[in-house]
Amino acid sequence: MDHFQLRDGELYAEDVPLARIAEDIGTPVYVYSRATLERHARVFREALSGLDNPHIAFALKSNPNLAVIKVLQRQGFGADVVSGGEMKRALAAGVAAEDIIFSGVGKTYREMAGALDAGIGQFNIESEEEGHELAQIAAGKGLAAPCALRVNPDVDAGTHAKISTGKAENKFGVPIGRAEEIFADLSSRPGMNLRGLAVHIGSQLSSLAPFEAAFNRVGELVKALRAQGHTITHVDLGGGLGVPYKAGDVLPSPAEYGEMVARVTSDWGVRLMFEPGRVISGNAGVLLTRVIRVKRGGNGPPFVIVDAAMNDLARPALYDAWHDIDAVVPSGARMTANVVGPICETGDTFARDREIDALVAGDLAVFRTAGAYGATMASSYNSRGFVAEVMVDGDKYAVVADRILPEEITAAERVPDWLE
Ligand code: LLP
Repeated sequence: MDHFQLRDGELYAEDVPLARIAEDIGTPVYVYSRATLERHARVFREALSGLDNPHIAFALKSNPNLAVIKVLQRQGFGADVVSGGEMKRALAAGVAAEDIIFSGVGKTYREMAGALDAGIGQFNIESEEEGHELAQIAAGKGLAAPCALRVNPDVDAGTHAKISTGKAENKFGVPIGRAEEIFADLSSRPGMNLRGLAVHIGSQLSSLAPFEAAFNRVGELVKALRAQGHTITHVDLGGGLGVPYKAGDVLPSPAEYGEMVARVTSDWGVRLMFEPGRVISGNAGVLLTRVIRVKRGGNGPPFVIVDAAMNDLARPALYDAWHDIDAVVPSGARMTANVVGPICETGDTFARDREIDALVAGDLAVFRTAGAYGATMASSYNSRGFVAEVMVDGDKYAVVADRILPEEITAAERVPDWLE
């Protein structure tokens, strides 16, 4: 459920007509709904209510806007970060350092040292090499880094290949078959407080079965490690729960996910940690766009050319992802169209041969489910700027990220004097 609904024939974000935001701020613009974020946070938390004090860390990569993080921080969420930049955002939004988990396969020396200095809650170590380096840095500072070892359970998440992370051939985690050996090595090192395991097998999972298979493997590993005398107090089960992108999509609910987790982990005796991203932020945002013109098709449907492009919302070009497209003021008429952006490549296509609300030049439309992996994956390709972001709260709204104009980007470039 989200708060982008038709009211008197016009699409609103909570109590604000989207047309007003387009008028005031211009298009394209990302619009987030605070009530939707809060609702998703509450639903996720309630789904885990059968667990003992779970730690829920919002995956910042899905939407790192400071206002979004702040809303979730106020809901009691921590932050899952994958770079020094994300860590700084989490701290700036008021997330307590101990509620931050640092994941990621390529943490640099500087990032690890900075995270230790900040006192973050947990590092999810992705390789023995990274573990060695982190132990050394921490020992040098007289610290013991709180860590979980991320294992790669070799489970097919059944999702798009580019967002699957738990197969043996993926770069993430250590092979589960070597986990006992690596755990023993790392946990014996000064500078290391290796206290648990982490797993994350992919994103936009549409079935619970791969999660369950992965979690069962982790559960067996917890027992094996304990039998070898290790103390395991924390297990991070990652994120990955999918969301409906198409009207009519049916996905496992957070409640079903929570029940499965409670059943599978009932005898683990650990504090469970979670890193949800998309399920919290995905349907809490839309990308609002205006139709530039409608061009007659060659031998197919017309091209509806909108002012948003693949640089603003990369998912369709990258993953052939589907985003529902709806008119802000639907006339009731329908059309079959190709919906495209202005960028000079064919990949800049949001929908092919799709039945949508009829649109003409000047009309406003939204791409739905754009709150996750939307603005954050933007680029300035074709010397386009970065889209503004707005958050709605009841009948008010605020710009939570300024539009960055192409000339502001150019201002950071230099022509060396030897080229003058
Ligand atoms: N934890 C880790 C270690 C992750 O790698 C990810 C996502 C998450 C948590 C959050 O997963 P979520 O709950 O959002 O599924 N750009 C792609 C998605 C990439 C996901 C990367 N990792 C897309 O637009 O579909």
